[in-house]
Amino acid sequence: MSAAEMNGSADVALETDRISKHFGAVRAVDELSISIPRGVMTSIVGPNGSGKSTLVNLLSGTLALDGGVVIIDGVGLRVVRAYDTPNHGITRTFQEVRLFEQISVWDNIMVVLTERRLLPALMQRTTAERRAKVQRVLEDVGMWEKKDSLAMDLSYGQRKLVEIGRAIAMDANTYLFDEPFAGLFPQMIETVKGIVRDIQAQGKTIIFISHNMDIVRELPEHLIVLESGTLLGEGEVDEVLGRSEVIEAYLGL
Ligand SMILES: Nc1ncnc2c1ncn2[C@@H]1O[C@H](COP(=O)(O)OP(=O)(O)O)[C@@H](O)[C@H]1O
Ligand SMILES: [Mg+2]
Repeated sequence: MSAAEMNGSADVALETDRISKHFGAVRAVDELSISIPRGVMTSIVGPNGSGKSTLVNLLSGTLALDGGVVIIDGVGLRVVRAYDTPNHGITRTFQEVRLFEQISVWDNIMVVLTERRLLPALMQRTTAERRAKVQRVLEDVGMWEKKDSLAMDLSYGQRKLVEIGRAIAMDANTYLFDEPFAGLFPQMIETVKGIVRDIQAQGKTIIFISHNMDIVRELPEHLIVLESGTLLGEGEVDEVLGRSEVIEAYLGL
């Protein structure tokens, strides 16, 4: 029985059944089967190049699958379309933050509340309800005071906060965050931790990639360890981190 068939339960938000993505000779993700529990926080760790971002890109339809099936809420997909993932209740952030550079922070959030096309979105900006939501989201990520700044004028950390804000504004059930803590100063790490905890308190499913083992020990309940595009370990955080093969992979870094 495949992992997908075994895990086809209501407690699972997202699964993969032997998914693969190869770049030439590089098996970035190689017949990988994982299971993401619903309503809890899962962290994905692994050495550089182990396929973490590729996995998130496959789950979000940013990259096309070479093989295998992604199962969202029990529905198996051989093709995951990026524009469809909000309808599946999935939203994401990128390791390399992607914002609309030439428009304001405020507009960067407003865009996702309206049309997914930029121009119609900007023309619908007056709705009171949407305006209130933009404010709420920007306050949640601590960026309300920067609402009028152009995205291109923000610091690295501020850009990450706006991108996380954009993900929150989508009202998803499942949040995929690719290295949300990387490159942040300690104070901003605390801000992002607070945001992630708030999302979890609403019963949402969160998956985040991280290299920060203190955060990985602190925040998630569930851990997925990748190595060379394959699964090295999966389960409860402390238990997985205590396994000898996982310790070896990390000492080998
Ligand atoms: N677009 C791409 N083209 C070619 N190779 C890629 C591409 N994206 C990722 N890779 C390769 O796939 C492997 C996994 O990359 P990635 O998923 O980014 O790893 P991680 O996020 O764990 O650091 C690496 O060897 C990387 O060089
Ligand atoms: Mg990566």
